[in-house]
Amino acid sequence: MRFDILTLFPAMFQGPLTESILKRAQQAGKIAIHLHDIRQWATDRHRTADDTPYGGGAGMVMKAEPLAAAIRAVRAADEQAGPTILLTPDGELFNQSIARELAALPRLILVCGHYEGIDERVRATLIDRELSIGDYVLTGGELAAMVVVDAVARLVPGVIDSESIVEESHSDFLLEYPHYTRPAVWEGLSVPPVLLSGHHGEIARWRRAERLRRTLARRPDLLARAAAAGVLTKADLALLAGWGWQPPHLGGEEDTD
Ligand SMILES: C[S@@+](CC[C@H](N)C(=O)[O-])C[C@H]1O[C@@H](n2cnc3c(N)ncnc32)[C@H](O)[C@@H]1O
Repeated sequence: MRFDILTLFPAMFQGPLTESILKRAQQAGKIAIHLHDIRQWATDRHRTADDTPYGGGAGMVMKAEPLAAAIRAVRAADEQAGPTILLTPDGELFNQSIARELAALPRLILVCGHYEGIDERVRATLIDRELSIGDYVLTGGELAAMVVVDAVARLVPGVIDSESIVEESHSDFLLEYPHYTRPAVWEGLSVPPVLLSGHHGEIARWRRAERLRRTLARRPDLLARAAAAGVLTKADLALLAGWGWQPPHLGGEEDTD
């Protein structure tokens, strides 16, 4: 999969995209990450990419011409098409299901805003989708782009062991079960005995119960979604009922009791 990132600050990407799993994925040819400095497409002597806002007010706005030229050139640099995505705090909230959707595409073009953001006319004409990584404001879209690349790249087949992805948090609304590694006793705290039993069925049942327990304790909103999506088994529902949780009524049906 190919990622193109358009930014005014390409040096910010050194480190997060050049270490560990993303580094190996690039070396193995599973993903390719291309950084593009938007200033390259600024035509004046000072390579100006931002200007003061019409109507006055604080901050600077990223100019339309260099950014539009950058997007058009980058799109044309590879025959594979992919959506041009702007990172912006007023975009659609990024989550694991969007990450899965994007990981199925051959290419993504990510545009990082900075200062007050980009000229609205570029958003209206050249941006296909807008994503926010959370309800807070960053200084620029660079960290947000790194978050999106990281979350998407690890779902690209062959980037990480596919078993790790199956039962992890947010894969099916449920959070992940707790993990332990050696030593079996650390500072007086023991690993749950079932994990040392070697009994695969028991371990799977314990892990499922821990996923449910943790989701109920931390994110009960996700349990309601899991119930609506039909991913809770009868055994899950019985366990949850024992802890006092009932699925909310769905579909607006009248209670006939
Ligand atoms: C200081 S912010 C601009 C905020 C903008 N004036 C507003 O109020 O919506 C500068 C840039 O950071 C990026 N950014 C900030 N917060 C973000 C978030 N939560 N998710 C994605 N990108 C974000 C965007 O690219 C944005 O153009």
